[in-house]
Amino acid sequence: MTRPATPTPVWIDTDMGFDDLAAVLVVDQNPGWQVEGLSLVAGNAPLPVVEDNALRSAACFGWRFPIHAGCDKPLACDLVTAQYVLGEDAMASAGRQLPAAPSGAALASRDAVSALARWLEATGTPATVLALGPLTNIATLLIARPDLIPRIGRLVWMGGSAGPGNHTAAAEFNAAVDPESVQRVIDAGVCIEMVGLDACRLVRAHAADADALRALGTERSAILADLLLGYVRIASPDGSRPMALYDPTAAAALVCPEGMQWREGHLAMELDGTLTRGMTVVEWRVPRKAIANARIASLAKEEKLRDVVFGALARAAR
Ligand code: RIB
Ligand code: CA
Repeated sequence: MTRPATPTPVWIDTDMGFDDLAAVLVVDQNPGWQVEGLSLVAGNAPLPVVEDNALRSAACFGWRFPIHAGCDKPLACDLVTAQYVLGEDAMASAGRQLPAAPSGAALASRDAVSALARWLEATGTPATVLALGPLTNIATLLIARPDLIPRIGRLVWMGGSAGPGNHTAAAEFNAAVDPESVQRVIDAGVCIEMVGLDACRLVRAHAADADALRALGTERSAILADLLLGYVRIASPDGSRPMALYDPTAAAALVCPEGMQWREGHLAMELDGTLTRGMTVVEWRVPRKAIANARIASLAKEEKLRDVVFGALARAAR
């Protein structure tokens, strides 16, 4: 893979579970992109667990970009985590875990919102943000610094669904954790490029993918293989069924635009429904029924995006 003259800078906001780790590797291992910073948000697990996962990941894979801790709870409700699915550390594994971070490992700051604001101010062209968790940090930034809204050129978000949910029958997890933040981003006029469950469910990981990683024969490949197998087993305890790749699909769609088809739509957020709070409602009949305010990932090319994801994991594993 040839390195272009100037890789595209990108900021990643994440609630650092395994699929987030895989997504960061997809971007970091692509010579056309430069990860400039991570902002951490509570979601998959409480913030301290997210921080530990991020520092362990950075140590294991040699990340040099700064990592900042952000919001530890949603804007307007209590935190609900995905530990009921992912386990206490949000890194379900079939064996190995990420090694503990070295004693000197440290976050760059505990003010991710200010760090992201500084980055947006300093980055020349409108910038790209990849969001892989609840949008609490992003919404908090937009509330504090509405002047920076024009500096966000792209906000690509793994979240929401134009179809059924996963956290509830109606709501995808990242949207369900902090629906008010999604609403704030919509109200701010930021065009969300939503990679929802419906698109992600077209890109799947299999237990055999873990076998292929393990066959690379390095300690990193063995760790990634065990974490991937633990992730695949979310779909079926024996790993016999494939598991949708959520965050890695969003990251792959970013670095490989030809791997995803997008449609314009009107994105609305359900805040009040008893059964539907956290549901992202997509109105496709734009502009007849509503004004388009979002780009919705609608058709993923599985083979192409899988190649991007597992090619990156193999490079990271060497
Ligand atoms: O619904 C999937 C999303 O929720 C992913 O981002 C996963 O990491 C969890 O945060
Ligand atoms: Ca995530």
